[in-house]
Amino acid sequence: MATSWQKRGYSIDAIRELARTELPKPVFDYADGAAEREITMQGNENDFKNYALVPRPLKGAATCDISVELFGKKLALPLIVGPTGLSGLFWPDGERETARAAAAAGTAFCLSHGSTCTLEELAETGVTPRWMQVFIYRERDFTRELCNRAKDANFDALMLTLDNQVIGKRERDLSNGFTIPPEFGFDSYISMITKYRWLWRMRSAYRTLTFANYMRVGEKNDLSQLAQRMGNLLDPGMTWDDVSWVRDLWKGPMILKGVLHPEDAARAATIGVDALVVSNHGGRQLDGAITSLAALPGIVDAVPGQMPILMDGGVRRGTDVLKALALGATACLIGRPHLWGLAVAGKAGVKHVLDIYAQELGIAMGLCGVKALAEITPELLFHTENLRT
Ligand code: FNR
Repeated sequence: MATSWQKRGYSIDAIRELARTELPKPVFDYADGAAEREITMQGNENDFKNYALVPRPLKGAATCDISVELFGKKLALPLIVGPTGLSGLFWPDGERETARAAAAAGTAFCLSHGSTCTLEELAETGVTPRWMQVFIYRERDFTRELCNRAKDANFDALMLTLDNQVIGKRERDLSNGFTIPPEFGFDSYISMITKYRWLWRMRSAYRTLTFANYMRVGEKNDLSQLAQRMGNLLDPGMTWDDVSWVRDLWKGPMILKGVLHPEDAARAATIGVDALVVSNHGGRQLDGAITSLAALPGIVDAVPGQMPILMDGGVRRGTDVLKALALGATACLIGRPHLWGLAVAGKAGVKHVLDIYAQELGIAMGLCGVKALAEITPELLFHTENLRT
């Protein structure tokens, strides 16, 4: 029988509202917010509304298979849990809870460089497929170290994120004092101490919150200091030579995340990258950047059939997944939605979020007359811009 949060969390939007009631405002806004005027974040979601679906109900779609194969492994649904830093702020042991939920739903989980557990601790859960996300650092040896650690811990794929070389200006965080070091004002403190359930849950986890992958052996935990170190390590001077260097280091599947220009997609193909994520980091970095959905068709055309194209940003419905796949994506990633689920009910909350997508995608495919993902084509879509011509 569905418990009350599950009943009330009947959609991703509803889960977001439940998360808002669970979390202190600075924590909710850290996930929910984006850079500057948040135009790109809003655009990510809104662009899906510009496409209408054109159903073909008489195609005999009596059954519906939403599974997809990626890097030789079958995923139960074309939705992957994307990397998010500091997930442990939303629920104790947040990353491992999330990874277990992804495995229970039959899909892949990508650990953020900025996780609150080490990548080795994540690997101890045994969940697969597990992917590791890294950056190009000023100290290239640290990038090398993370790649080697991920290899030793048997991660299935490496995701190199390209769009975090400078940290975006997130104004909700500035307004809430969610900065390095924190500068919480009265309102933020009040909001922390009135979220009893979160406070109680986090009572011991809070002290151990850290960027675990960055801690040196024997080092004392100081989150602000580590965040500062991390920021200083990011390298806006990175080039394609660095991507090729990582390609040589990492022999398994390598994914580039944050690709928005077709020429970059084509270049990635020439150096043997295995997959791309069309992404603007959920609008958290460059406000005014092209939306993921707008960039997707150009990227698909630049590397036709050469590699899986993943996308993320604003995917909130099963119909959004269907639309992204109709534009040529192999699968989508989510960021904020799994954090909302995590904040509401830990592992069960993340699993619930993934189940919502799976259920909605199944309904949408059934109504469109589509039996399997391979049958999803651009003909399913009508761009509402065409109404004006
Ligand atoms: C992120 N994202 C992210 N991406 C990445 O490559 N490394 C990271 O450490 C993080 N950290 C992070 C933290 C938080 C709180 C959020 C919300 C997001 C970006 C994430 O992987 C993904 O690209 C976007 O979140 C996708 O957009 P939606 O689904 O949130 O709209």
